[in-house]
Amino acid sequence: MQKAASLPLPPADAQAASDTLTARIGESIDAAGGWIGFDRYMAMALYAPGLGYYSGGSAKFGRDARDGSDFITAPELSPFFARTLARQFAPLLAQGLPRLLEFGAGTGRLAADLLLGLEQEGQLPQTYAIVELSGELRARQQATLAQRAPHLAQRVTWLDTLPATFDGVIVGNEVLDAMPVQLYARSGGRWHERGVVRSHVGEPAFRFEDRPLADADVPEALCAIPGDHDLVTETHAEAEGFARAIGAMLARGAAFFIDYGFPASEYYHPQRAGGTLMCHYRHHAHPDPFLYPGLQDITAHVNFSGIAHAAVDAGLTVAGFASQARFLMNAGITELLMELDPSDAGAFLPQANAVQKLLSEAEMGELFKVIALTRGLDDNEPLAGFARGDRCHAL
Ligand SMILES: C[S@@+](CC[C@H](N)C(=O)[O-])C[C@H]1O[C@@H](n2cnc3c(N)ncnc32)[C@H](O)[C@@H]1O
Repeated sequence: MQKAASLPLPPADAQAASDTLTARIGESIDAAGGWIGFDRYMAMALYAPGLGYYSGGSAKFGRDARDGSDFITAPELSPFFARTLARQFAPLLAQGLPRLLEFGAGTGRLAADLLLGLEQEGQLPQTYAIVELSGELRARQQATLAQRAPHLAQRVTWLDTLPATFDGVIVGNEVLDAMPVQLYARSGGRWHERGVVRSHVGEPAFRFEDRPLADADVPEALCAIPGDHDLVTETHAEAEGFARAIGAMLARGAAFFIDYGFPASEYYHPQRAGGTLMCHYRHHAHPDPFLYPGLQDITAHVNFSGIAHAAVDAGLTVAGFASQARFLMNAGITELLMELDPSDAGAFLPQANAVQKLLSEAEMGELFKVIALTRGLDDNEPLAGFARGDRCHAL
């Protein structure tokens, strides 16, 4: 585990908020008899009202640690990410689906740049709704929209609950990876659920503790992992429940989720013995979820097979699954970039570098995937983003 000492110290007010959250999590552990599942810990660390990482005041998104941020996402990196999504969404809006719904909108950059992109495509949606768990982020989204796309901001509304039915286009960038996961450890050939307990005095507040599982309680996805060597991995009940909820809600249209992750065969590959749990604090990635509760992001990669199967169970079609690089190139990111004047190096080079990060195999191009889940779309109009390199067969 990364030593806290090697990471930047939080300011006193942030440390005080983290101490309050630590006390709350400790009380929940006591109330549960001394042990809670990791999913419950992660839910509190990220979403406890006013104190969790996403519901509290951390800067979160940004380019480097000097602005107090912890990580950067594709919409923050380059407006060409949203512009390219707009090219994929415009023909869908033209098919009589004039509404957009975004989950987990971060700073609001994707919403603002998507609206600007759709305006350029001549396909502005009638409404753009955002489902955001964090009140603090909702305020930031309003400020970003007012600053970047003031003439379009009045189209945007915020929803507290999912609509019962929805016709239109749904999008979520890096939302599935922010949903709480269960942790499991196989040791000595036996499966255990890895949960969280209070530590001994003088140590960090929490530590892992494994509880043996009866064979009947071992999740199906884990039973299929061959061998009996020791390993740690995750399951994704909340993200899969979310995919089912999208299936129940989407009457006609398409949902696009972009995130880092793999199909199950890669996710649960015997060689991935350490799992994918990862934390981000001030642009340091490290594996310790107990560092500064509420002040750092905690994520796990997405098992896209689990998402696909849950969506299909709920009546959706998996219309495409591709690497982010493939999807963006198919949907026309390089043509969009070429609209800039390459001889204007000051304007062109930073944008070209950012697009290179989105596409490069060594950066976001291969690890990040795009999945499209649809219902009731015209089969004669396949989604351009999956025209080449579709990997649905791997799910
Ligand atoms: C890593 S951030 C990504 C933010 C933004 N989409 C971006 O790309 O910059 C994860 C976001 O997902 C949101 N989130 C997590 N679970 C959610 C859910 N069930 N419904 C809506 N938003 C959710 C969090 O509040 C947070 O805004």
